[in-house]
Amino acid sequence: MTIFIPEDKVLEIKNAADIVEVVSESVLLKKTGKNYVGLCPFHSEKTPSFTVSPQKQIFYCFGCAAGGNVFSFIMKRDGISFPEAARILSRQYGINIPVQTMSKEQKRLRSERENLLTVNRQAMEFFQSNLFNASSGKQALIYLKKRGISQETMEIFKLGYAPTGWNNINNFFQKKKIPLDIVKKAGLIVKREKKDGFYDRFRNRIIFPIFNVNMHVIGFGGRVLTDDLPKYLNSPETPIYNKSSSLYGLHRARQKCRETETVYIVEGYFDLLALHQNGIQNSVATLGTSITVDHVHILRNVIGKDGHVVLVFDSDDAGMKAALRSLGIFMNAEVDTNIMLLPPGHDPDSYLFEFGYESFFDIAKSAKSLISFLIDALIEK
Ligand code: UTP
Ligand code: MN
Repeated sequence: MTIFIPEDKVLEIKNAADIVEVVSESVLLKKTGKNYVGLCPFHSEKTPSFTVSPQKQIFYCFGCAAGGNVFSFIMKRDGISFPEAARILSRQYGINIPVQTMSKEQKRLRSERENLLTVNRQAMEFFQSNLFNASSGKQALIYLKKRGISQETMEIFKLGYAPTGWNNINNFFQKKKIPLDIVKKAGLIVKREKKDGFYDRFRNRIIFPIFNVNMHVIGFGGRVLTDDLPKYLNSPETPIYNKSSSLYGLHRARQKCRETETVYIVEGYFDLLALHQNGIQNSVATLGTSITVDHVHILRNVIGKDGHVVLVFDSDDAGMKAALRSLGIFMNAEVDTNIMLLPPGHDPDSYLFEFGYESFFDIAKSAKSLISFLIDALIEK
């Protein structure tokens, strides 16, 4: 366990502690002139050669040459570290040190997380420059425009493009002299099975950086430009990315969620972009998982305890199944939840693109409560 003692606290202790008082707890001292003397606690002796100076606030042994200030005395006496000695003194002199303890492992994890965030931020910038500045990003840009994504939305959500090829990210980080094991841990490169080395996870894909509410990039989603499969590739779970407690778009949605006390939950990256671009910023997307208790907990904090959740699902089979799956979670969470079903064949993105937001709100108005949704679904069955 490592304990941190802020510098100003060290000074405060130094000012308050009296070395004669502290040494006297374990050594019988006798005043001789300006100093005190006694038998040295650090070596065995019969005549006192251990000296303490109240003026200089130090001790020194002429026999064994041990010496130092009040901190080093306690460290030596108890065989402990500086922060531990400082703790003891702070208690003795009534100085309050804010608890800042961190184990070695916690420290390691913290610095690992910071490194992962840095690597992700750099990767995001690399992807962005490939979308906007590189000729290789042209097709991706055309694709995004064709799907109705405005330049502004691309910039707000920091969309990017991972170029074709197996070693672009790899080379990018190698040039920066970033250790590849941390890039691998971030999920950006994958270890080759038969040969040495790594290859890029994201190749020839539109990149959606996923932010947490501190605006840190915690992961990525990547979409193919064609009908190839898999349609989306996502970052794996990493020490900084946990799908079941992350929501795409939350960093941009929070404010409006607070104001409106409402949040729309959709399923896809493009759905989320379409909602935001249509002024419905109080919306978030799950990341290829169904809704979890953690998601609900996070959203409840954002919309407030009287807030409303609107689940937006496709009315196809998969959408209905997803809706039914999430019901239990919302019922247990006691959040006012409505379910909004779009006409068959539509998801929020395609619907908004074709019919616009007013029409979307018309459907939102007729969203069903959980219970009536469930009853209707049962009757239909
Ligand atoms: P959908 O298949 O409904 O796609 O997946 P979409 O969002 O409408 O995508 P577009 O409009 O065709 O581009 C919904 C979400 O499920 C996750 C993604 O988060 C996606 O946005 N998903 C889907 C994956 O993670 N992997 C996949 O292969 C497919
Ligand atoms: Mn879609």
